[in-house]
Amino acid sequence: MSEPQIPVTNLKLQYERHAREISRVVEEVLRSGWYILGSQVKAFEVEFAAWLGAEYCLGVASGTDAVSLALASCGIGCGDEVITVSHSAVATVAAIERIGAVPVFVDITPGTRCIDPALIEKVISSATKAIVPVHIYGQPAPMQEISAVAAKYGLKVIEDCAQAHGAEIGGQRVGTFGDAAAFSFYPTKNLGAMGDGGAVVTNKTDIGAQCRYLREYGWKERYISYMPGFNSRLDEMQAAILRIKLKYLEEDNRRRRHIASLYDHALQGAGVTPPQEIKDTLHAMHLYVIESNERDSLRLHLSVKNIQTALHYPVPIHLQPAYNGRIKGCDQLPVTEKLYEKLLTLPLYPELTDAEVNRVCQALRSFSEGTA
Ligand SMILES: Cc1ncc(COP(=O)(O)O)c(C=O)c1O
Repeated sequence: MSEPQIPVTNLKLQYERHAREISRVVEEVLRSGWYILGSQVKAFEVEFAAWLGAEYCLGVASGTDAVSLALASCGIGCGDEVITVSHSAVATVAAIERIGAVPVFVDITPGTRCIDPALIEKVISSATKAIVPVHIYGQPAPMQEISAVAAKYGLKVIEDCAQAHGAEIGGQRVGTFGDAAAFSFYPTKNLGAMGDGGAVVTNKTDIGAQCRYLREYGWKERYISYMPGFNSRLDEMQAAILRIKLKYLEEDNRRRRHIASLYDHALQGAGVTPPQEIKDTLHAMHLYVIESNERDSLRLHLSVKNIQTALHYPVPIHLQPAYNGRIKGCDQLPVTEKLYEKLLTLPLYPELTDAEVNRVCQALRSFSEGTA
């Protein structure tokens, strides 16, 4: 009989861990009669800002909205060029285009798989207004170098932290380096809701205020719009659930990093490239993504052993049908194009047991040793 499947992620187990606490707050919210932008959202915003070491947090409807709103709150809009990467979730680019801004791609650095700061200056034009670095998989992008280029050219920096809750550079959490940051609380994220959710984070009072208006029709007072805005609000149920999960985030991230270290060990000498830990940074280990020249056969080997894997992402944004050939910089991405066919995401979530991690490690070893 085959062994039970090890999925890449398992949201049901996470729910079961917190079921009692979650049921209690859901009931509380239901009985409160207040379901959107209320006391739970306010409390979550304060708690998450404090957890990050940031001044302001504004709950919004999704991570995609958070990127759009963070940009718009920084004054970015129609026709403004925004430098980012093709090696990301499509959401990053969709969010830029949705506010009428124009994405411009820069290649990534092998190893970090994040934006290559040395290439940014080459694509800056008179229309460039912002840089959106993506802390991909939980790996912090090089914020010091990015901020230096941004300062030189007067550009805004909006961090895409959708995959990086708890990642750090020099002991400082990502999301606090740029002018603003966008977080996603999509259920699989390190801090995940039970539905959609996101947040804009900033240390700047004016950007925070602008985002507060923009997320709700440009209202400064109820029913009176001072600017055209969005409808992008976090609901009370999600905020209440996020407040519970936030209490466990540090512990969960530690467990993710521990599992990652076991994988690192199992992969030594296996001819694959594990995620890199850059000096003085802390990887949030949202996803454990390896590079292998034999990606597809390794994937098959693991699947035969009932170990699920995933591809983040099967195709970079600039090669996807919606974007193919039409984004500035799309012909200058050799590292991105060389990388994506090698990438493989292994199972990683805090509830993975040691026995399951061992099974994955053993399967990885048996592949590199050429045994069954
Ligand atoms: C890098 C990145 N940016 C933005 C998003 C968008 O977040 P959401 O799915 O909450 O809209 C995601 C989520 O998949 C992401 O991974």
